[in-house]
Amino acid sequence: MSNDEIKANRFFLKDTIRKHVDFRYTDQSRGIPPPPPQKRHDPDALTIELPGVSSFSDDFPLGLVRAIADRQSVRAYGAEPLGIEELSFLLWATQGLRESYHSAAALRTVPSAGARHAFETYLYVRGVGGLDEGIYRYLPFEHRLLLEFAERGLAGRVSGACFGQRFVGAAAVTFFWAAIPARMEWRYGLAAHKVIAIDAGHVCQNLYLACEAINAGTCAIAAYDQESLDALLRLDGEDEFVVYLAPVGKKRVR
Ligand SMILES: Cc1cc2nc3c(=O)[nH]c(=O)nc-3n(C[C@H](O)[C@H](O)[C@H](O)COP(=O)(O)O)c2cc1C
Repeated sequence: MSNDEIKANRFFLKDTIRKHVDFRYTDQSRGIPPPPPQKRHDPDALTIELPGVSSFSDDFPLGLVRAIADRQSVRAYGAEPLGIEELSFLLWATQGLRESYHSAAALRTVPSAGARHAFETYLYVRGVGGLDEGIYRYLPFEHRLLLEFAERGLAGRVSGACFGQRFVGAAAVTFFWAAIPARMEWRYGLAAHKVIAIDAGHVCQNLYLACEAINAGTCAIAAYDQESLDALLRLDGEDEFVVYLAPVGKKRVR
């Protein structure tokens, strides 16, 4: 890796919106309809209702100051499973829709450049009360879970795809955020990729803070093998691919 390569790669972090996006020629300005804000699924597929948002503030009343003060990366988890209400809360906190949203820009609990929200959330569920082990997808518009598939050996494959970070596969549930870049490119063209990366940070930070409220811990993970993880989640790796993940488990009793 040369100095020139390093410098060229910094382009990605610079102000690409004004310099490199000609808004006359984006898909949006050409009148092309935006990609759907949630990946389509078979309407007859089995989906699982998640507990409603209205109960969260009573169930998980931890103060924001405490949550921010105590947040840290947690890489060792207790054996206790997560409750479905707790998982529902974490999903809502990271990608849930806000109560007042309008259909053109479905606003969520996290910010997103242009409200484009380019992520789908996949879960490897290993220890959540009432859910079988498997790979699920969160449906924010319905606030439900879709079972994608179940197969043997998922824990080992998840850890393996994260270069042997064993705590990842050992967590009660692992969140995977996969980008569908077309959602962001529709408005921002070449500048989409920087803001997708920025958006991922908001999502994961909300997960950290929400975990504090349920006595759980998480750890942001960016060290993973792209091809292995995309293949594991059955993503095409081109129009949809993992950008970030985070295992979650209850904190160990000291
Ligand atoms: C973008 C990003 C990628 C990270 N990737 C990993 C990872 O692959 N494995 C890991 O154990 N920790 C990972 N971490 C966690 C950091 O190591 C951790 O945030 C840092 O050591 C500071 O500790 P704290 O989060 O407890 O404050 C990552 C954090 C960020 C923000």
